[in-house]
Amino acid sequence: MTEGDLQALGEQALEEIAGAVDADQLESVRRKYLGRHGGLISGSAQSLAEAPTEQRATLGRAFNSAKQAVEDALESRETAFRLARWEQSTEEEWLDLTYPRSPLERGHQHPVGRLIREIEDIGAALGYQSVRGPEVENDRFNFELLNLPPEHPARDTHDTFYLEGPAQGWLLRTHTSPVQLRTMLAGPPPYRILVPGKVYRRDNPDPTHNPMFHQVEGLCVDQGVTVGDLKGTLTYFLQSLFGLERRVRLRPSFFPYTEPSLEADVSCWFCQGTGCRSCLGKGWIEILGSGMVHPQVLRNAGLDPHRYSGFAFGMGPDRIAALKYGLEDIRDLYENDVRLLEQF
Ligand code: DAH
Repeated sequence: MTEGDLQALGEQALEEIAGAVDADQLESVRRKYLGRHGGLISGSAQSLAEAPTEQRATLGRAFNSAKQAVEDALESRETAFRLARWEQSTEEEWLDLTYPRSPLERGHQHPVGRLIREIEDIGAALGYQSVRGPEVENDRFNFELLNLPPEHPARDTHDTFYLEGPAQGWLLRTHTSPVQLRTMLAGPPPYRILVPGKVYRRDNPDPTHNPMFHQVEGLCVDQGVTVGDLKGTLTYFLQSLFGLERRVRLRPSFFPYTEPSLEADVSCWFCQGTGCRSCLGKGWIEILGSGMVHPQVLRNAGLDPHRYSGFAFGMGPDRIAALKYGLEDIRDLYENDVRLLEQF
């Protein structure tokens, strides 16, 4: 190894560095000349140590200057490549910070969901707890325990979806009332519950019917609960929902699981009770079914009707939402057409 050899190696390296087309090629040049193992320049350090003493200083200088020159050249080309890459990426990946963004769509609750939430909030203020029950029910809970034996004519009003195959004997609940029994059989009184949920009936879809709709069931059972409590509670609920100036009236009705049974009307909030299209000229809008829990239902729940009494009610938030928002067709609530829903 001579001074000339080192110089030649250095020049050769500089040429290759100048000729490298990208960072990868540059890296292989670096490895070829300065690699830790067997680099052409770095490897010659060994032969320096073995050179005769009088040549060592000259050789050492030549080694150092070749190595330094190559390192410098590598660094400046590396920097050049890095800059070029950066420039290319700003060229290709530029971001126009002045570009107008599409307006952010903000979601909100479905009108029926919101009404249910509202009902639950009103109930919570009265100590009513929200509970859920299964949508797939059996005959016992959906009908029998509610005083609706198999041949009972009132069953006809619940056109029922019965399940087939391995699920035979099960049905889609036709109302939320079975959760009354599920709750009472699960633990001791008192009960104050609200049961929101989906129910199903084999109704032909039309502007006021859909095979799936929602109900909110209410149940209050304790010692000494009276019709007065029922009326007070319903009035509180309905005035909270429709406005304090609303009047509430109860009309006799019939449900097999209540005695007496009462239907609650609210004075029409469109015409203030004078009669209009929404209330069909009656001045009143029928809102819910209710009544005092039938003694037999209490017995079915394992309660002594001489000791406990209570009331129950059931309302349809879909119909209420349709009325509230003036929807002509209740099915619009289930189509999930955002153009419609975003209006509420
Ligand atoms: N289950 C009734 C229906 O499906 C609604 C109802 C009426 C619920 C009276 C009740 C009640 O709890 O007491 O139409």
